[in-house]
Amino acid sequence: MAIDGSIQTVSLDTSCACNKAQLPCALVVFGASGDLTARKLVPALYRLHQHDLLPGRFAMLGCGRTLFTDESYREHLRTFIDTDTGSDPSWGTFAQNLHYQQLDYSYPDDGKKLYSSLERIDASHGTSGNRLFYMAVPPVLYESIVALIQHGSLKADCPDSSCWSRIVVEKPFGRNLESAVNLDSTLKETFAEEQIYRIDHYLAKETTQNILVFRFANALFEPVWNRQYISRVDITATEQIGIENRAGYYEQTGVLRDMFQNHMMQLLALTAMEAPAHFSPSLVSDEKSKLFQSLRPFDPRSFWQHLLIGQYGAGTINNQPVCGYRDEKGVAPDSITPTYAMLKLYVDNWRWQSVPFYLVSGKRLNRKETSIVVHFRDVPHSIFRDIISPIAPNRLTFSIQPTEAITLSFQAKAPGTAMSLRPMDMCFSYNSEHGRPVDAYEKVLVDCLNGDKMLFLREDSEYLTWRFLTPFIEDCTQCINHREALQLYPAGSSGPHHPGWAWTGRNNLAD
Ligand code: BG6
Repeated sequence: MAIDGSIQTVSLDTSCACNKAQLPCALVVFGASGDLTARKLVPALYRLHQHDLLPGRFAMLGCGRTLFTDESYREHLRTFIDTDTGSDPSWGTFAQNLHYQQLDYSYPDDGKKLYSSLERIDASHGTSGNRLFYMAVPPVLYESIVALIQHGSLKADCPDSSCWSRIVVEKPFGRNLESAVNLDSTLKETFAEEQIYRIDHYLAKETTQNILVFRFANALFEPVWNRQYISRVDITATEQIGIENRAGYYEQTGVLRDMFQNHMMQLLALTAMEAPAHFSPSLVSDEKSKLFQSLRPFDPRSFWQHLLIGQYGAGTINNQPVCGYRDEKGVAPDSITPTYAMLKLYVDNWRWQSVPFYLVSGKRLNRKETSIVVHFRDVPHSIFRDIISPIAPNRLTFSIQPTEAITLSFQAKAPGTAMSLRPMDMCFSYNSEHGRPVDAYEKVLVDCLNGDKMLFLREDSEYLTWRFLTPFIEDCTQCINHREALQLYPAGSSGPHHPGWAWTGRNNLAD
């Protein structure tokens, strides 16, 4: 550690820690002309192809209502790839594996078209009847797509277990507890729970995966990971971007359904859950569920003491003027959809009783930052009170993005003849120079292809998080003073003011 207060970094050689998808497979993407496919899925598949991490026998069949040929679909996707695909010969070999089938989701008989396309792909690419269906569509379409899969006789695993099928569903998984249960029953008419992969891409980010390793592969931290030593935990996911072209989706979801029900709750679970007996998908899911069962239920009498909501107005991001939420294309001019929320919650168990967790997420804020900050308690008695008072307590920060690091802040003596204290940081960082940074979608795609469910959500955890959040979301939208409670904040600012809130973390968004 440098004593001049500079951050010392320990980096990791990550060059060899990559899984390859092994089994042949046809990936069927519903919503093939949408944003998710073009911006996340296909670029991730292309990078996997470039690093030889896709199975040797692999093809993707894009499906949607838009009319494309295989050729025009490949051209459409090429425009979303960052690298100069013209000079990169690997694009050509990759693109040969991309196919397109136009489908009308509301017409179950189109399942037969899908069946024929997949038969052709099995024959030309040797994909052996293994199918990964990916729902890159809004949940309202799930039911008709599942009907189409059924009609095409594409359901479930082959009877003799010589091939498999799996289905990947994107969040938001429903709008509330009731619709999540209904969606599940729709999926389960065709697929068993083991075949359903509910994605939360935040779980595949490097530092997120590191939380359990950090907590449970080291003897040092777990003994102090409780109410006796920790005073508060802040979980933050702020963004500079607005809603982009997703007004239709966002007006229906708002920040609580878009970010809290899934990403924020999962980060909370990893930070606060007990150690599972073994690192296996079902035991980790068991512990997450126990944690969600311990969340203190919402109390309508103290609603606004636990929830703060805001919406961005016009402002400036990176010196560029940007419009307010209500002026975004497709948004109602009097919309009261929140784009920012801060939720203060408690976990009612022995470990966490009385420790507040502050969850903050918002769009069009002054920076992109996802982090978890664990604040430790003050020293019980300061022998240095004549030199410095108060002494800043220790803090442990998991930085998830834009940098991926774990930092421990502590006090040390500053160099020199005088006795003076100074806060220092000890930092472990995933240094991209030592290995290719792996995008979260690359990781989840390889895991689905390999049948590894560790990073996917089990149904009970979906229900429990909806059960906890639904009263917040529904009472928030229905309460009479919702409009007054919704604070407008300028785009590019640190978000709404929160008078009376005790949240004063390192990532404090308050001005
Ligand atoms: C998605 C949300 O799940 O996560 C988006 O729907 C949000 O609204 C995005 O912008 C943030 O993801 P990331 O990985 O960029 O932090």
